[in-house]
Amino acid sequence: MTMDLLIPDKVHDESRQGEALVLEPVGKHNGRKLYIESYGCAMNFSDSEIVASILAEKGFETTSDFNNADVVFINTCSIRENAEVRVRNRLKEFAGAKFRNPGMVVGVLGCMAERLKAKFLEEEKLVDVVVGPDAYRDLPNLIEQVDSGQRAVNVLLSREETYADISPVRLNSNGINAFVSIMRGCDNMCSFCVVPFTRGRERSRDAYSVVAECKDLFDKGYREVTLLGQNVDSYKWSGQLAKGGEALAVGDEITVVNFANLLEMVALVSPELRVRFSTSHPKDITDEVLHTIAKYENICNYIHLPVQSGNSRILDIMNRTYDREWYMNRIDAIRRIIPECAISTDVITGFCTETEEEHNDTVTMMDYVKYDFAYMFKYSERPGTLAAKRYADDIPEDIKQRRLAQIVAKQQEYSFYRMQARIGKIEKVLIEGYSKKSDKDYCGRSDQNAMVIFPVSENYKPGQYVNVLVERTTSATLIGKIV
Ligand code: 5AD
Ligand code: SF4
Repeated sequence: MTMDLLIPDKVHDESRQGEALVLEPVGKHNGRKLYIESYGCAMNFSDSEIVASILAEKGFETTSDFNNADVVFINTCSIRENAEVRVRNRLKEFAGAKFRNPGMVVGVLGCMAERLKAKFLEEEKLVDVVVGPDAYRDLPNLIEQVDSGQRAVNVLLSREETYADISPVRLNSNGINAFVSIMRGCDNMCSFCVVPFTRGRERSRDAYSVVAECKDLFDKGYREVTLLGQNVDSYKWSGQLAKGGEALAVGDEITVVNFANLLEMVALVSPELRVRFSTSHPKDITDEVLHTIAKYENICNYIHLPVQSGNSRILDIMNRTYDREWYMNRIDAIRRIIPECAISTDVITGFCTETEEEHNDTVTMMDYVKYDFAYMFKYSERPGTLAAKRYADDIPEDIKQRRLAQIVAKQQEYSFYRMQARIGKIEKVLIEGYSKKSDKDYCGRSDQNAMVIFPVSENYKPGQYVNVLVERTTSATLIGKIV
């Protein structure tokens, strides 16, 4: 675990970083093997499933060993400098395999590909192909181009591409939870963030295709979907919903679907299908969304609401477009409308010009909310962002580190506090499988997204719901027994 990340969950799972993905080919096997590994956010992992689907159609088989692959892809993240350093190091490891097998195609996908474009080919001689997040349909052509002796680049960003029609092949799946991408890109322009440059303009996916994908997952036995977008609250799709679609009980007349409507449509697929989502933006999360969460038992009581800073001046130069009071008001609304809701956040310490008092406002915000989880980072200047252009990265590393350590310690207290409050309560848990430590225990998540461990019972299998009485906790896990 890196120092800048505290508690992994499924959306920001540190243990999945660099995971290789394996699946069966869909089309006729073409004799070539694909290796693909992913870094960064859940959206990247979801994109790798799209990439694998596109190439499986062309007959590629996947392998979990890059040494015997014909095509090696790395799906990259640019969010902080250390994410990029990690990818460069990994590329060095691929160099040995390519030396032994000069015919091997090495490709860089995702945010780093988009950020560095053709420069990547100059910087990393080993790389043959560079492909941005909106150009994956072009991969079969690009690979052909490399086969014919050229190096290939496609980093065109699109205003329309949502890969809505590509049914992603679920990779390394437990068959119970799946990510469903509902939108791409981001229009927010937070000054520290590289995402608007690497993932382009925001666009929402056809609501009907989202519901159809969730229904298909449910029919295949999946019991939890996490709807993914950089800013799910600004989801907006307009179009004609199919008449007579069984799951579309919201009504055929709807031509504009907002996030609250979409949540409801997915919740209506089945009461047995849990619905989660990430990430919400404090400026856009509406009471309508909160009421929808409260209305449906199967929409989980868990909201990831990044605060970034608790100080209004810092929020202003971060271009977050809300202030401390606005954020607190949204927290109050969540507590009022969904009293049992767990809340997690993202925090950046040591942003440009942040004073000790301003940092302290972040600390007191944590006291106000008492977050269930937090992902905490030191500010990392990213080339090309508004902050890099406008403000000096002037907080010394040791101060950033001290502020980070302070909020990490604070969060540990509150995580423990939130877990302790569950002792004696009965949690509805979706069983995901055996616990990592012992096959005598099952693990699964509570409605509020806490990991729960309890002894295996022959009467229940993964994919089923059970009621678990919480008897004790660590700062990250609830421990109990089925009742
Ligand atoms: N430096 C540090 N953290 C960052 N994040 C985004 N950009 C940066 C950066 N330049 C964090 C934010 C965001 C999360 C996904 O990553 O907290 O919410
Ligand atoms: Fe980056 Fe802000 Fe968009 Fe999140 S909302 S991806 S932090 S620009």
